Amino acid sequence: MITKETAIATASEDQARIGDDNGHEIDVAGFDFMNLPDDFVPEAYRYFAALRAASPIHRNSDGSFVLTRYDDLVTAYRDPSVWSSDKKIDFKPKFGDSPLYEHHTTSLVFRDPPDQTRIRKLLQAAFTRKALVSLEPRIHALVDGYLDEFEERREMEVVSDLSFKLPVEVVCDMLGVPSSDRILIRDWALLILGALEPVLTDAEFKAGCKAVEDFKAYLRDRIRERKANPEGRIEGEILSALIDAEEDGENLTELELLHQCIFLLNAGHETSTNMISHGVHEMLRHPDQIEKLRADPTLVDSAVEEILRFQAPIQVNNRRAIQDTELSGMQMPAGSIVHLMIGAANHDATQFPEPEKFDIARRPNRHLSFGLGVHICAGNSLARIEGKIVFGKLFARFPTLRLESPARLSSRIRFREVTELHVAI
Ligand code: HEM
Repeated sequence: MITKETAIATASEDQARIGDDNGHEIDVAGFDFMNLPDDFVPEAYRYFAALRAASPIHRNSDGSFVLTRYDDLVTAYRDPSVWSSDKKIDFKPKFGDSPLYEHHTTSLVFRDPPDQTRIRKLLQAAFTRKALVSLEPRIHALVDGYLDEFEERREMEVVSDLSFKLPVEVVCDMLGVPSSDRILIRDWALLILGALEPVLTDAEFKAGCKAVEDFKAYLRDRIRERKANPEGRIEGEILSALIDAEEDGENLTELELLHQCIFLLNAGHETSTNMISHGVHEMLRHPDQIEKLRADPTLVDSAVEEILRFQAPIQVNNRRAIQDTELSGMQMPAGSIVHLMIGAANHDATQFPEPEKFDIARRPNRHLSFGLGVHICAGNSLARIEGKIVFGKLFARFPTLRLESPARLSSRIRFREVTELHVAI
């Protein structure tokens, strides 16, 4: 099995780096998503390239398929009438009748229209251009504060000192969660999202269920407080918008309200955290790209896109065929499950010339890191703003920034998660 943490890269050019060839052949025929090889995470892009070339619609031991071609992912994302996101059938054997089942089948991301459309509409107010622009000064101030601390200390562990702190502050502000409670959110998020990994131990299952229950109890308290003090409401705050919808009695049930809050708090930080960690890491591994950005700061927008393409924070989405269908000539019976390998699609040479080249000026760059179609990430503009502000400031302010020790990746498959990254000036 994959070890808990895997060193993925170092500051020095002559040591192992993501995607480097360790000399062994990829066994495409024996590849099984349900039983991944030990080196899958550090070598993910080599596995994807081999699969794309030899078995782009690859059957696993449980009958599901791994998709690695850009065009096949686009097809599945674009047609929710064939490719369902609803997880009631998929999660029953894994989660039974548990809090994890309740959560992962109630949040909008794992439901189909019209329920998904109804819930998504309620969130829209929080993600309008106006609402996001109003968040920008706060994001600037937070980033300046983290970078001031870094300047004083001269060294930083990027994940805990920067890339986790910022998104969790922002999403908790949006929801209306007090600062003092933010560390709780991180632990719950890890346990709840961790339960989506292909294989789950009994201890992980139990901890995930407890996290859902604790999170619900916590949110019930926050909602009670909000209802008791309506004057404390902030314009555009998601919690209040959802409470209004729930009180209407028609738009949202209490259970739906709780699980959307949990989902947003989770989705809103893990992903952006990893975008920031990978971004700092990839830029420092490619000093020519830092120079390019310094020479032309307007490249920061395309830099964010390239970081998202190169190391997709979410690596896998899933869909289930509602009816018998066909994908690139492969017949798939109703009930087939497909694993949409975002990291693989983002490195598909038919869409991205020289896909292993990290190029912050790459255009066009239609990566799939935010998904596509009806479920396309509701927070994509917010994540892009966070990335733009962090990378814009960090590389302009610290010309002597350097990697201190190898970045570490967790063994998680769905999230390409950096657990530790040390830098210094
Ligand atoms: C770099 C950061 C992020 C990445 C890579 C990311 C990625 C994704 C992806 C791939 C999906 C689609 C899932 C599917 O189709 O099955 C998604 C959905 C979603 N994301 Fe994000 N996300 C990020 C940040 C955020 C943030 C900051 C928020 C909110 C504060 C957010 C909220 C959502 C929501 C609500 C959905 C569900 C949309 C729906 O089902 O209609 N995300 N995200």
